Amino acid sequence: MNARERLIVALDVPSVAVADKMVTQLGDSVLFYKIGYQLAFAGGLPFAETLIRAGKRVFLDLKLHDIGNTVARGVESVAKLGATFLTVHAYPQTMHAAVEARHGSGLRILGVTVLTSYDDADLAAAGYDFTVAELVAERAAQARDIGMDGLVCSAGEAERLRSIVSEGMVLVTPGIRPAGADRDDQKRIMTPAAAVAAGADYLVVGRPVIEASDPKQAAEAIVAEIAAATR
Ligand code: C5P
Repeated sequence: MNARERLIVALDVPSVAVADKMVTQLGDSVLFYKIGYQLAFAGGLPFAETLIRAGKRVFLDLKLHDIGNTVARGVESVAKLGATFLTVHAYPQTMHAAVEARHGSGLRILGVTVLTSYDDADLAAAGYDFTVAELVAERAAQARDIGMDGLVCSAGEAERLRSIVSEGMVLVTPGIRPAGADRDDQKRIMTPAAAVAAGADYLVVGRPVIEASDPKQAAEAIVAEIAAATR
């Protein structure tokens, strides 16, 4: 995989018009886009199909979680869209249903172990008798055993998770900030080079690219940093 294929730009924008403008501006610099709740619920799903027809890859960050049958039917529809990655919460029933339903398509299912906004106290308040570290490790092992395609994790978790999951599973890491960039609301950040060194396969970057004064140049700088780190 070359460096450019490893960069996923998060299209965290309010409308298809804004997203389309950004994609045009980024041109050949970016091959892979992530669409989350904000854009998905504002016309982002037909836009995902447009991107795919134009040769881009799409990560639908929809974090599905429901009864198995509902998850499976949803995954089948996402597979028909031609998306490359889809997130589900890493609960065993949900992961089983998603993995089975994506069979025969190019869609890969990524598990969200524990949301990064949760700490141990939040888990206790939600009724769990686990620390975040314990639950992340447990769910990563379950994801591996169920045959999931990968996990979303912070770059700081990547090294530990790599020792739990098989080589065939991809680790996709947000919270990436080039040296000197604004950290925004991210608490645990890593530079692109450090994330790659920690074992991340794909890096998700939002604001450092889409809010840059020159987004294309910002994306190119990240691709160059990934390339240098993997040389
Ligand atoms: O703008 P920024 O680079 O912080 O965007 C990171 C993207 O990754 C956002 O779309 C955010 O929702 C997503 N994300 C994250 N942390 C997670 C999971 C997803 O920042 N644990």
